[in-house]
Amino acid sequence: MNLKIAVLSGDGIGPEVILQAKKALYAIGEVYNHEFVFEDALMGAIAIDKTGNPLPEQTLNLCLNTDAVLFGAIGDPKYDNNPSAKVRPEQGLLKLRKELGLFANIRPIKPYKALLDASPLKRQIIEGADFTIFRELTGGAYFGEKKLNEEGTHASDLCEYSEEEITRIAHLAFKAAQNRRKKVTMVDKANVLETSRLWRKVVKTVSENYPDVALDFLFVDNAAMQIILNPRQFDVILTENLFGDILSDEASVITGSIGLLASASLGEKNALFEPIHGSYPQAKGKNIANPIASILSAAMLLEHFGLFTEANKVYEAVEKAIEYQVVTADLKSDSKFGTNEVGEFVSNFILSKDDLLYF
Ligand code: IPM
Ligand code: MN
Repeated sequence: MNLKIAVLSGDGIGPEVILQAKKALYAIGEVYNHEFVFEDALMGAIAIDKTGNPLPEQTLNLCLNTDAVLFGAIGDPKYDNNPSAKVRPEQGLLKLRKELGLFANIRPIKPYKALLDASPLKRQIIEGADFTIFRELTGGAYFGEKKLNEEGTHASDLCEYSEEEITRIAHLAFKAAQNRRKKVTMVDKANVLETSRLWRKVVKTVSENYPDVALDFLFVDNAAMQIILNPRQFDVILTENLFGDILSDEASVITGSIGLLASASLGEKNALFEPIHGSYPQAKGKNIANPIASILSAAMLLEHFGLFTEANKVYEAVEKAIEYQVVTADLKSDSKFGTNEVGEFVSNFILSKDDLLYF
C-alpha cells in the first residue's frame, strides 16, 4: 500500500515522540512492503512563531490532500500563562478538526498486564478494564458562539448540537460495540442540559438499528466516579466534546500514564492520529517523553487502512517493550531508557533485529 501521511509534529515533545512513530511506520513499511511518504508541516506555537498563524494555509491544504495526518502535540507555556492571548496554538488543532470534518475521536483505554501496579488505582479495580471512548469532536461548547462583553465582565460559550451531528457519531459507536462486548454507555447531563436531552433521544433512535447492542445512560458526574470506581463496567462510552475531553484524561489514570494513550479522529474523508497527551514543554529535548502513545497512534493509522497484521505487529512490539521494561521514567522512575531507546526497541522488534538482546 502507498500512503501519503502529513506529519504535524507541533510543539514541546511533539517532534521527539512523532519521530519514534515514524520509525515504527518505516519499519512496518520495510517488513510488509508498504510505502509511507511523510510530509512535514507546521501547526501550533511553532507555526505562530514562524508564520503568525497556528494553522497555516499550506498545512491545511496538505492535510486536506493526504491519506492521513499524524499529529504530535501543541501548546507552549507562553500561551498557558496568558489565556487571553488572541492567537493561540490550540486554535490550530481546533480549526484543523473542523476543516477536516473530524467528528469522531476514538480513545481506547486498556491497562497492560505488566503495568497493573503503575496506576495509582488498585490492581483489583483496573484489572480487566477495556473500554473505548467515542468523543464527539467538532461540536458543543468548543465550537459554539463565544462572547465577551466590552467591559470583560460577562462571557458565554454556546453549546449546540444538531440531530445530524449526534447521529453520525452514534452509528460509529454502536458499530464499534458490535465488534466488542456489545454495550454502549451514553454519558450526558440530561437532568440539566437541553443538548443532553437531544443526545439521549437521538441515540435511542440510532440504537434501534443495533438490537444486539445494549444501551445505558449515565450522568457525567456519576460517570466520572464510575470510571475509577468500576471501570470494567464500560465497553463503549459515547459522549459529547467537552465531557469526552475531561473523561479521557481521567480514564488515562487506569493505564498508569497518559503517555500510553493514542487516539484516532475520523471524518467522512479524512483521518488524524494523535497521542492524547499534551506538549509537555518541561521535557522538551530531554529524551524522557514516552513515545508509546504516538507509536500506538501510528498503529491506529494502520488499522484505519485495514492493515491489521501490521498494526498487531506494532501492538506486539509495544507490549514487549513494556514487558521487558524498556519504558520511559513515567512508567519506571529509575528507568535507564529514554524516548529514543523505547522507539528504537519498537522498530527493531518490528524488523526482528537480533540486537534486541542488548536490552
Ligand atoms: C485534546 C486536547 C485538546 C482538546 C486541546 C489541546 C484543544 O486537550 O485533544 O484532548 O481540548 O480537545
Ligand atoms: Mn484533552
